[in-house]
Amino acid sequence: MIMRMIGTGSSLPQQIVTNEDLSKIMDTSDEWISSRTGIKERHLAKEETTASMSVEAGERALRNAGIKAEEIDLIIVATITGDYITPSAACEVQAGLGAGRAVAFDINAACSGFMFALHTAYAYLQSGIYKTALVIGAETLSKIMDWSDRSTCVLFGDGAGAAVVRVCEKETKEKGNGRGLLAFEQGTDGFRGKVLACEGRKNRNPLIQNSFVPSYVNMDGQEVYKFAVCTVPASILRVLDEADVSVEDIKYFVLHQANIRIIQSVAKRLNVDVEKFPVSLDHCGNVSAASVPILLDEMNQKGMLARGDKIVMSGFGGGLTWASAVIEW
Ligand code: UT7
Repeated sequence: MIMRMIGTGSSLPQQIVTNEDLSKIMDTSDEWISSRTGIKERHLAKEETTASMSVEAGERALRNAGIKAEEIDLIIVATITGDYITPSAACEVQAGLGAGRAVAFDINAACSGFMFALHTAYAYLQSGIYKTALVIGAETLSKIMDWSDRSTCVLFGDGAGAAVVRVCEKETKEKGNGRGLLAFEQGTDGFRGKVLACEGRKNRNPLIQNSFVPSYVNMDGQEVYKFAVCTVPASILRVLDEADVSVEDIKYFVLHQANIRIIQSVAKRLNVDVEKFPVSLDHCGNVSAASVPILLDEMNQKGMLARGDKIVMSGFGGGLTWASAVIEW
């Protein structure tokens, strides 16, 4: 069975906020943000919502795949910033796209969310339950940022990315023919979860004395950094081993876009030219679950992905969570 990614799409808010813009409203500088992270600017939502960007990214992915909304069996949205607790963002996407046949639900795995959602979709496809899935990573992180905490709020952005994955029954599994998913692995470490946290709403039951203080994203950046540079290369090596593919055979390493120094460190640890690690964080910032599919769509739109190319994708972040995959385009 070949499970192939047949289309991608993305959507970013119109408003672009540069480091220079931020330095006018808080004690920061382009020099600090650029040198510590590689981020130059990010898109921040004004009118856009997690659902509206998800629908737009989904529409573009369907157009790119050349399929209609009625053909989708499954919609999974990975997000930690849905517009509602219920309905899920995925149910909103179902209605927005008119995907009447689909079943839809959300996944919360923070910055690894798209990868977890992709793996879940692959599992449904592999089991024969569904044939076509729309997988979306979408975030409006600006609404859960503590805008008085310069150590976190300058890092993140808003946006959505989508991919259509489908069982391609008539295609053969010959080498070079684009064999789709070759291997996948994912993991979690809930014991260290609080190093990157955003509390949910408090219980306001009248029987409980509880003054409500909304909570925003809180991160021990250095702990997350250490986690990322150790976990990601190890995860990539495991998944390559499982796929029986060497590091040298990989055309691109599509990583979660958190910090250019993390990407450089992973490249160094894998002994791979950093040129093989495409980047979108310079103009998108860290878009959590949306970063991998946005980057993938940018690469697809630029014509960087050819049939048979082997690609590694890897996400990591809150939970703590991580996930990597090797696919043949
Ligand atoms: O997507 C989820 C996964 N998240 C990540 O992967 C994030 C991983 N962590 C990181 O990328 C980095 O740890 C950060 C970019 C978050 C921080 O970089 P750092 O090199 O670890 O900086 P730091 O936290 O050690 O801060 C260094 C200094 C501090 O000042 P002092 O105490 O040395 O005087 C901070 O107060 O930089 C200061 N600082 C800032 N200065 C200007 C922190 N934020 C800012 C800022 N502008 N925005």
